[in-house]
Amino acid sequence: MDTLTALTQRVSVPRLTDPGPSDDQLRRLLEAAIRAPDHGMLRPWRFIVLRGEERQRLADIMEWRLLKRQPDADQGARDNIRGKALRAPVIIVAVAEVTENHKVPVWEQVLAVGAAVQNIMIAAHAMDLGAMWRTGDLANDESVKARLGFADKDQVVGFVYLGTPAAPSKSLPDETPDVFLRELPRG
Ligand SMILES: Cc1cc2nc3c(=O)[nH]c(=O)nc-3n(C[C@H](O)[C@H](O)[C@H](O)COP(=O)(O)O)c2cc1C
Repeated sequence: MDTLTALTQRVSVPRLTDPGPSDDQLRRLLEAAIRAPDHGMLRPWRFIVLRGEERQRLADIMEWRLLKRQPDADQGARDNIRGKALRAPVIIVAVAEVTENHKVPVWEQVLAVGAAVQNIMIAAHAMDLGAMWRTGDLANDESVKARLGFADKDQVVGFVYLGTPAAPSKSLPDETPDVFLRELPRG
């Protein structure tokens, strides 16, 4: 698949199944990620790759957080939240480990990691893998960041779910860039 086709035809794939990306494909996804633009070459991106049983550790964090907020959550709710970590064969947790008080502001560092995640999305599509970028309030929880090994200053940019599409891909939205164009105000 050529680059422009991958860029213009990519869609998110919420329902993913086995097989997940191979070791070689994972390597290529991460190689694509670290070619994102990065002001100051700060290299703010960090990736936690969770495969197979490793996903249970993310499920543990999700369940622990649920019980912290809702101590009386029943088994159904606990199973439901754990299932979120198991809905794809592989999850890449992408985190911006930011440098504060730097001439490159934090928002630019977080954007660089967003660009890295988008590179993963495009590379996955180009390799006929399905991918879905998710965050949710989990991504902004200080205690979750700590359990992932990061400080509160850092930002979880995405949980990138990867696998084989479980259903035919949705069709592309019928849009053109024109509606997003604006004129520079005069004066
Ligand atoms: C930073 C970020 C966080 C997102 N978080 C979620 C999420 O938690 N849950 C979700 O259903 N979609 C989330 N999305 C949106 C999906 O990844 C996806 O882009 C959207 O469903 C539109 O589908 P498309 O990519 O095929 O156009 C997020 C997107 C971005 C950029």
